[in-house]
Amino acid sequence: MSKSSHSSPGDAKPFVASRCGPLAGNVRVPGDKSLSHRALIFGALSTGVTRVRGLLEAEDVLNTAKAVSALGAPADKRDDVWEIQGRGVGGLQQPKSDLDFGNSGTGARLMAGVITGHDVEARFVGDASLSRRPMKRVLDPLRKMGLTVREDRETLPLTLHGTATPIPIEYVMPVPSAQVKSAILLAGLSAAGETTVIEREATRDHTERMLRYFGADVRSIQRDGTTAITVRGQVEMEGREVTVPGDPSSAAFLAAAAAIVPGSDVTISGVLVNETRAGFYTTLREMGADVTFLHPREDGGEPIADIRVRHCSLSGVRVPAHRAPSMIDEYPILSIVAAFADGVTEMEGLAELKVKESDRLAATAAGLVANGIEARVDGDTLSVAGSHQPKGGGTVTTHMDHRIAMSFLVLGLASERPVTIDDITYVATSFPSFTSLMQGLGARFEKA
Ligand code: S3P
Repeated sequence: MSKSSHSSPGDAKPFVASRCGPLAGNVRVPGDKSLSHRALIFGALSTGVTRVRGLLEAEDVLNTAKAVSALGAPADKRDDVWEIQGRGVGGLQQPKSDLDFGNSGTGARLMAGVITGHDVEARFVGDASLSRRPMKRVLDPLRKMGLTVREDRETLPLTLHGTATPIPIEYVMPVPSAQVKSAILLAGLSAAGETTVIEREATRDHTERMLRYFGADVRSIQRDGTTAITVRGQVEMEGREVTVPGDPSSAAFLAAAAAIVPGSDVTISGVLVNETRAGFYTTLREMGADVTFLHPREDGGEPIADIRVRHCSLSGVRVPAHRAPSMIDEYPILSIVAAFADGVTEMEGLAELKVKESDRLAATAAGLVANGIEARVDGDTLSVAGSHQPKGGGTVTTHMDHRIAMSFLVLGLASERPVTIDDITYVATSFPSFTSLMQGLGARFEKA
C-alpha cells in the first residue's frame, strides 16, 4: 500500500483541530507497531503456526504482512487473530512480485535482514517518503554478511539478493538504531555461527526479547558501557501465541493531549512500558505532569501498564541526548507539550530525527513557528519556549509524516486558535483510529 493507496499531493485531506473542553475517559490504543512487525516476521521464520492477537492493523504493518505472505509464509486474519504459517529459518521463497513497504522504514529495513539470510532476490519499493530514507545504514553490515545489492544506489527501489549461508559478523553500530540492530540479528539467524551487534546507546530491545520468546538463542552482555547482543545462527524457532500490547508511541498523543487540555483525566489501558520506549513518559513527569503507571504486569516478555494522565501545570526541562533512543518517535509531540510549559524546553541529540518519515526536526520547528510558538533548531538541539496560551492559527505541512500530523492536531485542542494540517492521510500508516478515539475523549477535529 504505497503509491497506489496513497495519494498524489492533489488528494491531500486537510484537517483542523479546535480548542475543546476537558478530555476524559478510559481507552485502549492499537497494538504496538514495532512488536506487530516483529510478530509477523518472526512467525514467518518459525516452524508451525504463530497466532497474534492485538496486531496493529495499520498500513505499515499490513505491508509487512503482505511481504511475508509473498515470501511464502501466508499471514491472514481469522476471526480476531492473525495467523502466520511459518516456513522456518532459511525457509522463505522467491517472491513473484515487488515487496512494497509503503511508508515503513521498519518493514523495509527488517526485511532486508531477512532477505540477507535467504537465497532469494526481492525488489524493495516504497512511497516517496521511504524512497528518500537512508538504507546504507543496513546495507553496509548486510553486505558484509553476503547481501548483494543489484543497483548502485543506497535508497529504494532496490533489488536485494541474499544467501543461504550468510557470514556471521561482529558489528559496532555507528548510529543508535533498533532497525539496523534487528536487520543484522535477523540475517544472523541463518548464519553458521554467532553474529554480534554492539550498541553504544541502548535502543529498543523488542527483537532480542521476542526472538528469545520464539526460542532463538540470543544473549545480551553489558561491556564497557556498551551492550553486545549475540545471536547463534541456524537454531530453529517455533510458532508462538503473541498478544501485542498498546503502542506507547500512539498513547503519547493521548497522554500529551490530557497533559495540555485543562481539566483532562485520561487513562490508556494495556500499554507497553518497556523502558527502552518510555523516555517520553519520564520527560512528562520531569515537566511536572501527573502521569501514573497503574497495574504493572508482564505479557510475552514485555512490561505493560495502564497509563493515567491528568492535566496540571508544566515546566520546561532539558532533555538529555542519551534519552533520545528511548523516545525517538516522541519528540514532535513532546515539542507540543513544551509549548504549554513555563520556560524553555531544550531537546538535545536529535540527529536521528532528520531521517525519519520526514525531517522531523525541521518539520516540527516549522509547524511550531507557523503557530506563533518560539522554536529554534541549533545543530541537533531543538528549543521550544512555552507559554500559558500558545497562539495556533497556522497551517502545518506534514510531509507524508503521520507523527507530524497527529502532533499538530493535538496542539489545536488547546491553542488559542484552531490548527490546520495540510493532510491527514498518513495517520493511517500507524494509527487509523486516531481521530475517532480522540473524538471519543472529547477532541474537536473536523475536515478543513
Ligand atoms: C523502530 C525503531 C526506530 C523507530 C521506528 C520503529 C523499530 O527507528 O523510529 O519508528 O521498530 O525498530 P530506528 O531504530 O531507526 O531509530
